[in-house]
Amino acid sequence: MAADGGMTARQPAAAPKAADGAREDTAPRRERRVFIRTYGCQMNVYDSERMLGALAARGYAPTDRPEEADLILLNTCHIREKAAEKVYSELGRLKPLKAAKPDLKIGVAGCVAQAEGEEIVRRQPAVDVVVGPQTYHRLPELLMRAEAGEKVVETEFPAEDKFDHLPAATPAGRRVSAFLTVQEGCDKFCAFCVVPYTRGAELSRPVEKVLAEARRLVAEGVREITLLGQNVNAYHGAGPNGRDWSLARLVLALAEIDGLDRIRYTTSHPNDMSDDLIAAHRDCDKLMPYLHLPVQSGSDRILRAMNRRHSADDYLRLVERIRAARPDMLMSGDFIVGFPGESDADFAATMALVEKVGYGQAFSFKYSPRPGTPAAGREQVPEAVKAERLAALQAVLAEQQRRAQEAMVGRRVKVLFERPGRLAGQLVGRSEYLHAVHVEAPAALMGEIVEVEITRSESHSLAGRLVA
Ligand code: SAH
Ligand code: SF4
Ligand code: F3S
Repeated sequence: MAADGGMTARQPAAAPKAADGAREDTAPRRERRVFIRTYGCQMNVYDSERMLGALAARGYAPTDRPEEADLILLNTCHIREKAAEKVYSELGRLKPLKAAKPDLKIGVAGCVAQAEGEEIVRRQPAVDVVVGPQTYHRLPELLMRAEAGEKVVETEFPAEDKFDHLPAATPAGRRVSAFLTVQEGCDKFCAFCVVPYTRGAELSRPVEKVLAEARRLVAEGVREITLLGQNVNAYHGAGPNGRDWSLARLVLALAEIDGLDRIRYTTSHPNDMSDDLIAAHRDCDKLMPYLHLPVQSGSDRILRAMNRRHSADDYLRLVERIRAARPDMLMSGDFIVGFPGESDADFAATMALVEKVGYGQAFSFKYSPRPGTPAAGREQVPEAVKAERLAALQAVLAEQQRRAQEAMVGRRVKVLFERPGRLAGQLVGRSEYLHAVHVEAPAALMGEIVEVEITRSESHSLAGRLVA
């Protein structure tokens, strides 16, 4: 059944209206439902919102129940083996739904789609559509082909810019904090990482487009924007008069938007932490004092083998300069243990770096060999050694996080309330430092930035009370 009313003879072939012609002929016959499950990084969260937007224009309403969906999409992550395998087990669980509802379409989007392509349909024939991260804007068309019975695999890196095609995201309900992708892809080719292969070459969106999207978000009630990119601080988008802008310049321009109160960005690479960006942390009140700056290892030998192109000391000096500009900066990072060739001494160097930096938050992983990446073919560190190192590192990082949280007790922070808490009468929001803070507060304060005194540190959040 063709869902596309415009393709039938009943609708005259009138010239489409100028502004929105492409979507003119897409009115559906009945409301359909789409269920999206998102894995991986914030960029996937943003992409899922954009896909929901593209599908809403085709009459798909979101649902959080896969059983009632006409379309199920998994927006996937390929960064580690476990992440990719999760996708196949989830597909196995979804398969019976299809037996019960033959019209159901199942799609795989995101980085596993890009990396595995046809292989997904071979391994799990219940899948109808495979769509890579650079071709989401073609999703409605791909679905039409799937509805006609074709197995569709679309993993090109097209010349056109997907952002020009995707309609505005239409998230459910009001949000106070939003993601905004400004840069995508990566040219750095760290020896362990699939991102350059799954997301393609580094690309920055033009300044005007970013500013327009930010203004629209603010008009919808958003007060905090997190700029996203795999290497967000490598941003170099074309400015209004043709010259490229740095991330710092973009941040300062965003800070001029009335009603936008908080700006964050993630993820940064140490080598792109430019002077003007560090200065923006000193000069721009709206730029929040939280920085995710992955280092991966504290050993120069391993950093070289990883192709990170900086030393442990470069990183430490950088952190010093950042803290000189913004003494209260809460540092966050990513670490990999058990990279091929990592000795006990290399691991000890990572532990030493962690001690020197003092992280408020961090993510750490066992090295996972990824197909097609240079390090995958090297001699691997035994699993038991990886597990032991990860446990030791995580113990230290957890202790640092606990201390950073304890240090907040008694301090006053500003909290942007984002959602109701678990208990009645509670709201939960984020402090400047990205700590989740729950507070007894009237619902009317939702979406407001309010002064709170921190009273207690819990395992992954803080508790506080409103300052009268
Ligand atoms: N662009 C970011 C990180 C993207 S991936 C940056 O350059 O820092 C997020 C994190 O996943 C990485 O920082 C790294 O710590 C981890 N990671 C990436 N590939 C991995 C692999 N093959 N095995 C284990 N961890 C990995
Ligand atoms: Fe991956 Fe390295 Fe690029 Fe980060 S900088 S996305 S870790 S290749
Ligand atoms: Fe995963 Fe792709 Fe993000 S591999 S971390 S979803 S860029």
